[in-house]
Amino acid sequence: MLRHLMALFVIALLALPGIASAQDVRPPENAANVDTPRASTGGAQTLQDVLRRQQGLEVDDSFRRNNIGGDAGTAPGLGPLGGTSDAEQWRALRYNEADVRVTTLNPTGKVLVQDGGMWWLDVRRGPLLTYGGWLLLGTLAILAVFFLLRGRVRVEDGMSGRTVTRFKAIERFAHWMLAGSFILLAITGLLSLFGRKVLIPTFGHDFNSVLLTGTKYIHDNVSWAFMIALVMVFVMWVWHNLPDRTDLTWFRYGGGIIGKKHPPAKKFNAGQKLIFWSVIVLGASVSASGLSLLFPFDLPLFGHTFALLNDSGLPQAVGFGTLPVNLAPQEEMQYAQLWHAIIAFVMMAIIFGHIYIGTLGMEGAYDAMGSGEVDVNWAEQHHSIWLEKVKEDELRRPAE
Ligand code: HEM
Repeated sequence: MLRHLMALFVIALLALPGIASAQDVRPPENAANVDTPRASTGGAQTLQDVLRRQQGLEVDDSFRRNNIGGDAGTAPGLGPLGGTSDAEQWRALRYNEADVRVTTLNPTGKVLVQDGGMWWLDVRRGPLLTYGGWLLLGTLAILAVFFLLRGRVRVEDGMSGRTVTRFKAIERFAHWMLAGSFILLAITGLLSLFGRKVLIPTFGHDFNSVLLTGTKYIHDNVSWAFMIALVMVFVMWVWHNLPDRTDLTWFRYGGGIIGKKHPPAKKFNAGQKLIFWSVIVLGASVSASGLSLLFPFDLPLFGHTFALLNDSGLPQAVGFGTLPVNLAPQEEMQYAQLWHAIIAFVMMAIIFGHIYIGTLGMEGAYDAMGSGEVDVNWAEQHHSIWLEKVKEDELRRPAE
């Protein structure tokens, strides 16, 4: 019995320091301000370091920053890491002291780890995917409901069999170059954004890696076709897309939905003008941010834009406060990536609507971009002012 009591006593004595040290790690009230001697963690970070960093306070990390091995790594006769340990190698990367070699000539490309990227990573793999995905699915659902309720817009008097030229070959070439490149960019862009979330869990890392190497190649190179086509379309159609009074009538009739009467329109009606300007403005913006991403660190856009916005007082007025203007090169890239993706999502949603109208939604519309010839009754119904003008021009032309 006495022996058992003695044993319990000894165990209790041994456990005491353990209990005491377990209490020590609980953060005191002002933990961030209390200094624990570095030696107490065996040279690692202290609780105070962690708390200070969480509070955004200055942390003296020289004990880690300087603990990256030295030149023992190059000593002959040692293993692949030389005298450097894995931990030291990672710390060197963490503090941009490692001997990193990259293909870009810009020294900023050698920064592989930076704290400022965490919020961006969270937004990119969180809300960007969620809201972007729902925007596209929601748009498809709305179009499906609209189709079920409204059905296909028919040519009321039926097809006449007589046609009129709506778009010349060069216009159709530019349109299809714009459309083809946009669709490729959209698919490859979505694949690289959703790769980690969808492709890796479904098909594995190897598949994702091979596919995304290809999609990146396509995305980066096809972008030039998109930009060239955007300029062509702008130059050819801007004149017909300037707003005028017929647009007010078009809006009053809701583009023909209200009152089921087709409002008179010139070459492009107000709805098409909205599509045109969306494509031009958003297309230019997605191109600019894309170029900034294509030439990393060489085309910074956001610091300057934020400064202009701050001067206008807009961000402050809508509750965003003053936007940051002194952006690190990496931060520039992060903003460029998010902006590029957000604008691309909005464009895709708009283009879904456009493709719907050009194919399923309206009888006779596709021919305008297919053969370039539209039925006269279709033209009379949807673009009566334009048709009149074409007829007048025909009459004025001397007989061949
Ligand atoms: C398969 C996809 C597409 C189809 C079937 C299609 C069809 C059409 C058609 C039929 C027109 C002529 C409408 C008319 O006669 O008034 C048109 C015009 C136009 N398309 Fe497309 N399109 C497609 C994709 C795209 C894409 C991806 C873009 C831009 C990124 C685009 C931009 C435009 C613009 C700016 C116009 C002139 C404005 C308008 O008519 O709305 N199209 N398209």
